[in-house]
Amino acid sequence: MRGASLPPALLLPTLLLPALLLVAACRDDGLARQPKATAYEAAEALPRQAAAQPPPAHTVARPAPAGLRPASPAAAPRSGAELLARGRERFAIFCLPCHGADGGGGGEVVRRGFPAPPSLHSARLRAAPAAHILRVIAEGQGAMYPYGARVPPADRRAILAYIRALQLAGPAAAGGEEAR
Ligand code: HEC
Repeated sequence: MRGASLPPALLLPTLLLPALLLVAACRDDGLARQPKATAYEAAEALPRQAAAQPPPAHTVARPAPAGLRPASPAAAPRSGAELLARGRERFAIFCLPCHGADGGGGGEVVRRGFPAPPSLHSARLRAAPAAHILRVIAEGQGAMYPYGARVPPADRRAILAYIRALQLAGPAAAGGEEAR
């Protein structure tokens, strides 16, 4: 019909409807839903007609994360020097960010606003029994969260040995790049 025009109230819906239909049609475009095989499902195209395939030859098993492995005595450091080296390494990974390289409590995380831990050189912590420090590592205390899941018992003892060495050395005596 020439000259006939849509009333304005109908104009918008008339334009919107095809657009909406187009968008709705995109939903099942074949990318969102793709074929997959679940474990134990039959899969004609694969060897043994099974979706679950044995690992390729020469695959090397990855050891379970430290926390899930039973602590083996062979993994324990043998000498005092090894114990300290292990403790220093673990301390640098897990404790230094808050407690600082020298154990004074001024780590990077603290300088960015985390509650400051007490100095490991305080008279109280120098006198604290090993069991207390081992418990704090495993179970956490106050704002410090527990490390029991990430630091296995042998490493807790190595860290403790390193803390004792730090305490003997005194504040800010720890060498290395991180010392401030
Ligand atoms: C995210 C920061 C942070 C990390 C990482 C951290 N600590 Fe702490 N630590 C704290 C804070 C904060 C306190 C003070 C907790 C409180 O009593 O409120 C504390 C307290 C302590 C204390 C003193 C407990 C007491 O009796 O006052 C010891 C010992 C300690 N931490 C050891 C460690 C060791 C060892 C590690 C590494 C395995 C570690 N911390 C990792 C923040 C941290």
